[in-house]
Amino acid sequence: MDLKLYLKEKKEAVDGFLRDYIASKKNRRDCPADLCDAMGYALMAGGKRIRPILSIAAYEAVGGTSGNILPVASSLELIHTYSLIHDDLPAMDNDDFRRNKPTTHRVFGEAAAILAGDALLTDAFNIISHAEAPAAILIDVIRELSYACGPEGLVGGQSLDLILEGRKAEKSEVEYIHTRKTGALIRTSVRIGALMAGAPQAELGYLTEYGEKIGLAFQITDDILDVTGTMEELGKSTGADDARGKNTYPSAFGLKESREIAERLVNDAVRAVENLNKKAEPLSDSEIAKYILSRRN
Ligand code: IPE
Ligand code: IPE
Ligand code: MG
Ligand code: MG
Ligand code: MG
Repeated sequence: MDLKLYLKEKKEAVDGFLRDYIASKKNRRDCPADLCDAMGYALMAGGKRIRPILSIAAYEAVGGTSGNILPVASSLELIHTYSLIHDDLPAMDNDDFRRNKPTTHRVFGEAAAILAGDALLTDAFNIISHAEAPAAILIDVIRELSYACGPEGLVGGQSLDLILEGRKAEKSEVEYIHTRKTGALIRTSVRIGALMAGAPQAELGYLTEYGEKIGLAFQITDDILDVTGTMEELGKSTGADDARGKNTYPSAFGLKESREIAERLVNDAVRAVENLNKKAEPLSDSEIAKYILSRRN
């Protein structure tokens, strides 16, 4: 299969949904213009949309065929974007650039950036509540997603990431941080796709394992990219994690072992979905493994 084309088509669908979402906010004029501008700036700044794409791919892998998944999958990008806006704030990672553009707080100020993040996080759940699916499924989706983003998930991981900054963490603590700050949302993105399609337990299990492994591998790769320098052209200063005293996989396990761990995780992930039918190809195709491991941004 042509994975590049698949990724491109799904990304375009998600970009289209998000563009309409921001346009409708602006048109309705009940969202203050400055707030809408900050939300739109961050949301449309050129993200890869990997979480929505994984969610749609999981949905299709277990037989989902309708367009109902698109709003739910796109809402994952609102949450991801909120997490990046807050992650870049001076009180957190203090980054001036993301995706080669000044960060949201550099353009709109800190208060507007915090509020844009708050608005995106909250609206994600509003969008899901309007999705066309049985109420019981939507409640499961909201329950899973809120847990994955909360104190036991993304926020918990971000919290420990900051608490342990400047101190050498145990390997198990670094794994804890990574599985939560990034892994939890990716794992849940995959699960939500499966839940929306009404997947049977066994298939949900395979996809859960897939999401878990891909999610951790994704953050390990992010750490590796920070060291190896390929994000430079994208406006991110390389070696920033090291300068800030961040606990990363390369700092805890070394670069070589980090690469091996990431490769192992991706291979395990691909194996976990082997039992699914041909529709799982976008997930199991070795191209996606290569994409996760050798992506340049
Ligand atoms: C970056 O995520 C931050 C992490 C959680 C590793 P992505 O690499 O998915 O960011 P964009 O949205 O594509 O820029
Ligand atoms: C970001 O991790 C995780 C979340 C935003 C939840 P990083 O701090 O490593 O991401 P980058 O390197 O700024 O993209
Ligand atoms: Mg961070
Ligand atoms: Mg950061
Ligand atoms: Mg990073």
